[in-house]
Amino acid sequence: MIDPGAPLAAIEGLPLAMAMRHDLWLYPIVEIVHITGFVTLVGSIIVFDLRLLGLSKALPVRLLARHVLPWSIGALLLIVPSGLMMFIAHAGDFISNTAFIVKMSLLFCAGINAAVFHAGVFRGAAAWDSGVATPVAAKLHALLSLIIWAGVLACGRLLAYV
Ligand code: HEM
Repeated sequence: MIDPGAPLAAIEGLPLAMAMRHDLWLYPIVEIVHITGFVTLVGSIIVFDLRLLGLSKALPVRLLARHVLPWSIGALLLIVPSGLMMFIAHAGDFISNTAFIVKMSLLFCAGINAAVFHAGVFRGAAAWDSGVATPVAAKLHALLSLIIWAGVLACGRLLAYV
């Protein structure tokens, strides 16, 4: 009889997972890294989405993208390892936490939305780079992005309460 909890118990038994549970300062420091990462990521996404929604029309969209995208990607290098370190410390609890499942699902949706935007309407950005209205499709991607990321933040915070 295979024990479904065995993989989660093995993850929680990892030396790093045990250190995350037993060391007084490791978990809070890792959480601060996580917070620093997602503040940078979501902050840069909000700035870009507001431009797509039509604010600061004089600001060239492609120039702004070249400025914020490296920060978004750099922030992921903080967010993902720190998130995984917190996850393995209490894998059994998080995997059965609805807020965690919804958060990971929203992250997947955020990735799809960004990929469709970059592969689609953003390829024609030269035509609406500055001084003119952005296409409806770009606005819809931006609106969806803002709603999804608000959901990710809410679910992240609710993790401790659900
Ligand atoms: C990429 C975007 C992400 C964002 C915007 C995000 C956001 C958040 C937020 C707002 C919190 C609550 C922090 C607090 O209130 O102290 C949080 C906690 C957490 N996040 Fe993330 N997160 C992201 C990715 C991830 C990933 C990829 C994982 C990995 C599996 C993860 C795992 C966790 C865990 C385990 C906690 C709970 C910490 C705790 O309360 O003990 N996160 N996240």
